[in-house]
This record gives sequence, C-alpha cells and structure tokens, in this order.
Amino acid sequence: MSSLRPGLSVALVGKDARTEALAAACERSPLEPRTYRPSTTDAVAVLAELRKDPPDLVLVGPEAPLCAGLADRLEDELGVPCFGPRQRHARIEGSKAWARELLAKHGIGGNPEHRVFRDPTGLTGYLHALGEFVIKPDGLTGGKGVKVSGEHLDESEGAEYARALIESDGVVVIEEKLDGEEFSLQTITDGRTTRHCPLVQDHKRAFEGDLGPNTGGMGSYTVADHSLPFVNREDMAQAQAINDAVVNALAAELGSPYHGVLYGGFMATGEGVKLIEYNARFGDPEATNVLSILASDLVAVSWAATSETLEREDVSFDQRATVCKYVVPEGYPTAPASGGLIDATDLKPLVGEGRVRLYWAAVDADPGGWRARMTGSRALAVVGVGDSLEQAEQAAEEAAQRVGGAVRHRSDIGTAALLHKRVEHMEKLRS
Ligand SMILES: Nc1ncnc2c1ncn2[C@@H]1O[C@H](COP(=O)(O)OP(=O)(O)O)[C@@H](O)[C@H]1O
Ligand SMILES: [Mg+2]
Repeated sequence: MSSLRPGLSVALVGKDARTEALAAACERSPLEPRTYRPSTTDAVAVLAELRKDPPDLVLVGPEAPLCAGLADRLEDELGVPCFGPRQRHARIEGSKAWARELLAKHGIGGNPEHRVFRDPTGLTGYLHALGEFVIKPDGLTGGKGVKVSGEHLDESEGAEYARALIESDGVVVIEEKLDGEEFSLQTITDGRTTRHCPLVQDHKRAFEGDLGPNTGGMGSYTVADHSLPFVNREDMAQAQAINDAVVNALAAELGSPYHGVLYGGFMATGEGVKLIEYNARFGDPEATNVLSILASDLVAVSWAATSETLEREDVSFDQRATVCKYVVPEGYPTAPASGGLIDATDLKPLVGEGRVRLYWAAVDADPGGWRARMTGSRALAVVGVGDSLEQAEQAAEEAAQRVGGAVRHRSDIGTAALLHKRVEHMEKLRS
C-alpha cells in the first residue's frame, strides 16, 4: 500500500510541456520524490510498464490515456492512486454532447443556445434559425474538429458537415456562435473540495494578431492578481461557480467523485460567462503558466486530490505574472520541418536568474538538456515569470529570441498592445 512519505515514487504520463511542468513542480516538492516517465502514453502500454514496479502515485498530463481508462486500471488493478479522472468522469471532455447535457440536466448556467442532433431531422432549419453557428464533433479531435460559420463554412457546408458527423459518430453538437474573449479556469479537485488556479488566456492562432490557422496553442499568460484584465469580478465568480457546480454534478451523476483537474474553457461575453467546453486535465500551454508559480507542494496536492482530503490542503500561487511562448519549427502547423536542431544554450543565464522556465515538448531528447532535435510539433515552451505582466513578457520574449534553430514564436503574446485589443473588445460588448 503506497503512502505519502519522503522519497515516494511518482510516475508522470505524457510527452509534452504540460507533463514537464507537472514533473518540475513535483521535483520542487519537499518530499523529494523519485520521478519517473514511462516511455509511452498509450494506456495499455503504460500499465504494462508500471506493473513491474508500481509507483506510489501517477500524474497524467494529456487526455487520451484518461479517456482510455488509465486511472481506472491503475487504481483497480495496481492499487496506485492517479491524479487524473476515471474514464467515466473523463467523459466531460470525451463527449461534448454529454457535457452540454450534464449542465442542462443539473440546471448549471453557462451553456450557450445549442442542440444535440442524433439524426438530421430539423438540422437545416436550426442552422438557418441560428444564422451564425458552430458545429462540434462529439469526441476527441485534437482541436481540429470544430467548425465555425463564416470562418470555415457557410450554411450549406455546415449542414453537410453536420450530416457527415451524424453518419460517422451518431451525434453532433450545434451551438450559437458567441462573441467574446476566451479564458481558461483550471480547477484542482478531489470531487468535493475545489481549488481554483489563476485564470489563463491561450492563443490558438499560428501568427501575430491572431491570424493564420489554429494550432495546439502558441502561448498563454496569467497576471499577478490571478484574474485577467478583460474579465470582471462577476465573470470570475461565475466561472468558478460553474466549475464547482460541475464537480458536484459529476459526483451526483456518476456516484463517485472526480479526481484531478477540471479545465473549463470559457468565453466572457456581453451577457456574462459562457462555457465553450470542458477538458479533463490541465491545458497545454496553460499548465506551464500556473505550475510555474504554484507555491504549494504538487505531490501533496495531487495526493490529497486522489485520497479525497483536499479540504485539508492549501493550494496557493505566487502573486506573479507568467507568459508562455511556444517555440515551434518553421512551417508549423501546416508544413512543419522535422528533424531540425533546436538550441537553448543561450538561455542558461535567464534560467539561472529564475526569470525563465523551460519545458521541452516535441523533441527527441531527454528533458533537462539544452539542445534537441525537433519532431515537428511545438518544440519548447519558454515561460517568463515576473512581478508584472510586462516583466514576464520581456523575459519570455528575450528567451524565445535566444533560441537557436529553424524556429519561430509569436512575439505578441502577453504584450500590452494585444491586451489592449482584448480589453477594448470586451468594453464594446459590455456597453
Ligand atoms: N459556441 C461557440 N462560439 C464561438 N466560438 C466557439 C464556440 N465553441 C467553440 N468555439 C471556438 O472553437 C474553438 C474550439 O472549440 P472547443 O469546443 O474548445 O473544441 P476543441 O478544443 O475540442 O477543438 C474554441 O476555442 C473557440 O475559439
Ligand atoms: Mg478547446
């Protein structure tokens, strides 16, 4: 039987900057854990690898192993606690229809006008009535399935796409198209007690000024007061109340508590906060922001989440700002060069001064080194930390510029100019 004791072994499942941020936070723990990364993220293969010498605790970065039932098998077959929900709880991310229906059933606010279609009856009439709409595949698509009218498709293309999804998946979600500013609220929970992280804003578009194709996320920021400049007090309270209510609804609906991180993707609109989607884990890059300033012991916190004792655990974050900029191979995301060298050696002084943290992602080297070969996706997350957003942005920008190789990053993330645009947009919508 494992226990929370000094020198405990902690396995980290995931091969991304998010999981590296989890690992780095664990490695700061006064419990001095022995951290270990399985060689794969495939649930079945991870289980086989961990079975030989089961760790005391497992933390899972990405959603796929959770949706495949990794937490269930770790706990039921190996008796190992998992920071990450069971398969039935991970459905909050794995099925967008189920998530919308859970909110509606439990009377939780935040759903946009929407309908779940399981056959095409009434589909075209609904699209026409909405005018501007969003079409969402039900399941995991790696951020590549959602299509927005005006941007990706017109009404007849929308009907065609929705019909195709009903045919392939048996279900499709159609929603009104909202106008506003997106932000994430990541909540650590043991299924009863919730501890909210600072709000984060991610940037999905590839290029400066929010232009170009969608990506996994080019970077993100938090501000020292843990809110965001375009989010008002009511918005923040509303988002927190929605996450709290969903934690309770999951326990009531499924008969057992959710353990891990519940990530609410929200949009601040002229009519308050709306829920875009739920994820069953930290965001990538959003994890790198909040974990870089987590003041509490992540090993103790994640242990408390799995043992349902979070009530006794303080979860606090430094009152500092963070800016994450992802360094990506040239050509990412449409035609990324693969195999090129990326060199972060010149960042040593910035890291040494504590102004910058580095988290390797799609590279083929051991984390901890300064050079690696890129494998085609987002390669390196550089996170600037400072007393103000300006300081954090300058640190991140300086760091990103010092990275060597055929790489690029978005220079505008966390800048005053971009923030000003967000604030103006919200002021216009609220007036
Ligand atoms: N109802 C909506 N109104 C406007 N934009 C939306 C809406 N739903 C989703 N989007 C946009 O599409 C993106 C992807 O949708 P999301 O539900 O987060 O799915 P996923 O992350 O699985 O691709 C969102 O980040 C947002 O920019
Ligand atoms: Mg999303």
